[in-house]
Amino acid sequence: MRNESAKQKKCVRYFTKGPSVATPLSVAEPMQQFGGNWTEVKLAMLKDYLAAYTTALKNQPFSKMYIDAFAGAGYREIETQADSLGLFAAQAEAEGEGFFDGSAMLALQIPTLFDRYVFIEKKKKYMEELRRAVSANCPSLSGRMDFQPGDANEILPDLCRKTDWKKTRAVLFLDPFGMSVDWHTMEAIARTQAIDVWILFPAGIGVNRLLKQNPDHIPARWQEKLDRIFGNGEWKKAFFKTSSEQTLFGEEIVTKKVRGSISAIADYYRERLETIFPRVASNPRYLFNTKRSPMFIFTFAVGNPSPKAQGLAMKIARHILGKVR
Ligand SMILES: C[S@@+](CC[C@H](N)C(=O)[O-])C[C@H]1O[C@@H](n2cnc3c(N)ncnc32)[C@H](O)[C@@H]1O
Repeated sequence: MRNESAKQKKCVRYFTKGPSVATPLSVAEPMQQFGGNWTEVKLAMLKDYLAAYTTALKNQPFSKMYIDAFAGAGYREIETQADSLGLFAAQAEAEGEGFFDGSAMLALQIPTLFDRYVFIEKKKKYMEELRRAVSANCPSLSGRMDFQPGDANEILPDLCRKTDWKKTRAVLFLDPFGMSVDWHTMEAIARTQAIDVWILFPAGIGVNRLLKQNPDHIPARWQEKLDRIFGNGEWKKAFFKTSSEQTLFGEEIVTKKVRGSISAIADYYRERLETIFPRVASNPRYLFNTKRSPMFIFTFAVGNPSPKAQGLAMKIARHILGKVR
């Protein structure tokens, strides 16, 4: 254990300044670039949970797994325009570079190790960069690494099916760019009864943009996307109401949007999650862009049926979600 923690310190030192010299990045290739302050807030919350989780389960007889299903390249390049960075412009300037650790690298810095780290990433180039960064910076952890290139909606259900959940507990981070997490994937996760999941849900940037005033004006492809993320077509009943209205031309059947605020979308997603997970955070964190428009909600669900395990996980998650950052 003493050896492991010494090696971990080494990883921390490398990672906190972005990709190490051992993983040179081609300047001709675009770097993975996304996010702003909300990304930092989201990652800080994840990191806090991973630290609390590994500490709480330290002496439990389970194999502990971290699953990063939209893992990325392991680092992020932050735009340097002050207006997109806000507070983090000062940080970027102070560090003299625009690279910061992504979720995968942050997970590897948690002092108490997970037994296995599963990284899923669809884009080959990012997966290769992540492999290089991890093996260059944390060679001692190579036996714990499991890189799974491909689509999270295929790999996750498979992983959930094949893992022995009597002996394993996991934290899963779902961090897609948009509406990429299918409901059947959420169902597979919930069925394990052993995964705590952090979900970046595109309430504003995705769902809200697809919910037009009249559902008949929502293109079929968008409706399919909404069906896939919510699990069925019941969302129409949740957000729209059909009634008869008296008009100049007599009585008409009219369908109108009756719920459509971001908080209504967040509430509906929570209601959906509550149909498959025993506990879901009631205080999701709203993540805003620099124009103060809500883009995502960041939320948490626990799969463990034990009230004691649920109570502890929810207490930590509620605290993390509510903390001012
Ligand atoms: C927001 S980024 C993740 C960033 C990462 N969590 C971090 O903090 O550095 C989303 C990533 O998911 C990948 N991706 C998109 N669709 C995917 C899918 N269906 N399955 C797996 N990865 C996917 C993208 O290539 C991208 O790298």
